[in-house]
Amino acid sequence: MKIVEVRHPLIQHKLGLMRRAGISTKEFRELASEVASLLTYEATKDLETVEQRIDGWAGPLTVHQIKGKKVTIVPILRAGLGMLPGVLDMIPAAKVSVVGLQRNEETLEPIAYYEKLTGRMDERIALIVDPMLATAGTLVATVDMLKAAGCKRIKGLFLVAAPQGLKRIEAAHPDVEIYTASIDERLNEHGYILPGLGDAGDKIFGTK
Ligand code: URA
Repeated sequence: MKIVEVRHPLIQHKLGLMRRAGISTKEFRELASEVASLLTYEATKDLETVEQRIDGWAGPLTVHQIKGKKVTIVPILRAGLGMLPGVLDMIPAAKVSVVGLQRNEETLEPIAYYEKLTGRMDERIALIVDPMLATAGTLVATVDMLKAAGCKRIKGLFLVAAPQGLKRIEAAHPDVEIYTASIDERLNEHGYILPGLGDAGDKIFGTK
């Protein structure tokens, strides 16, 4: 399985700022978006391009354009919305496919309560965005949903990932590629990543 911990200095610096206690909503939100942009740059490095002839200012020339139906961004409600602006900054024309999942209190398994995917999922690369890859229950369910819709190429972008979650997604969907700013130490007994960021959704939306 492809798991990339993107140890670029800008990403490490920004993630370090995000880990400070008492960070404001504004700053956390801005940094989440900036790190999302940088992860997008890394995760799209291998997109295929095709040559195209165009009329340039000094005459005809050949340029490279991204091939095919391109990308759909898949933010997982609610916290994934905090990364969406940063990904859209890099891929402004991308279609957005929003999914919402919640835990069934009896089975503890995530079930979808919202799913609005764009068309031709079979021709697109899906970029799932969610700040925290903790147990990976939500991620596995999202990938199940995308594959059921015909999606063949799926990448996930996370600010922070836990080793347990990475193991679980690898077991369930080894073909998915993971890009994260940090692989942290572990999950605590409440399912929070340590050292982590705390509750990313609350920090992005200013709730508590
Ligand atoms: N979700 C969060 O917001 N934080 C964690 O540490 C784990 C899941």
